[in-house]
Amino acid sequence: MNRRKQRKRRAVFSVLSVASGSSELVASSLARIHVVRTRILTTILGWLAVLLILRVLVAILANYPDYFPPNFDSLFLQGREATFTGPYRPAFYIHIFSGPVVLFNGLILMSEYVRRHHSRLHRFLGRVQVVVLLLLVLPSSVVMARHAFGGWPAGLSFLLLSAATASCAIIGVVHARRGRYDRHRPWMLRSYVLICSAVVLRLISGTAGLVGVPSAEAAYVVAAWSSWLLPLAAYEIVERFAKRRPARMSPWALADPQMPALPQ
Ligand code: HEM
Repeated sequence: MNRRKQRKRRAVFSVLSVASGSSELVASSLARIHVVRTRILTTILGWLAVLLILRVLVAILANYPDYFPPNFDSLFLQGREATFTGPYRPAFYIHIFSGPVVLFNGLILMSEYVRRHHSRLHRFLGRVQVVVLLLLVLPSSVVMARHAFGGWPAGLSFLLLSAATASCAIIGVVHARRGRYDRHRPWMLRSYVLICSAVVLRLISGTAGLVGVPSAEAAYVVAAWSSWLLPLAAYEIVERFAKRRPARMSPWALADPQMPALPQ
């Protein structure tokens, strides 16, 4: 902390000390201000993320007229006449129907409000999410990964992504069934962060297209790997950082030390 900030803090602290006559009360007030500020910031960031996910989802759905019937001049299907046969064709249609379901459903499942006030709805949508993810989205992506744009380096990334997403979802379900909701939540969050790779992939490859990269294939391979490794790393860093800070405690927890911290 720089000197100016320290001086300002000391000044606020001493004014409040004089006013209240208790340094503990002042410390708890400052901590509470910090909690409220952090909460406002995380709420704003959360809503921005929701808007971004919805915006990209609309852009993905806008391409669907090119798939009914398949237009092999469209961006994604260009040059895929040979691969759009056998198991690839049903896998593709299963994937493009089930993908948006888990992306949108996941937004509702991540809502703290729905979890607290409509726990039965949360449970129902959670079951739908796991079934659609494990039986439709991920198996179809494995079939499609074999013919990914960018060849095997991109395909390998999609295979590992599928395995990681399935593992996080299964571990999350096991914790939920054992009633360990504090452990269930981070695993389901990880699984959703990985599902959102579909959004990040399009953001990165869209930016690469705008910037004008020399090799579209190489850019796609980089986008395929970064689309899930970067968000996952960011999630792990934020989660560890949040655990160490008192900001995760609710204001009432600060007011009353007997009160537990908010569930992680
Ligand atoms: C972990 C989850 C996911 C994996 C592993 C995955 C994997 C894949 C793969 C391998 C492809 C073919 C890529 C290529 O040939 O270059 C693909 C295409 C596609 N995926 Fe996913 N995907 C996932 C989630 C989603 C989600 C959540 C959506 C929701 C919108 C989605 C929508 C699509 C669409 C629409 C295509 C066709 C291409 C396009 O129109 O952009 N996927 N996905």
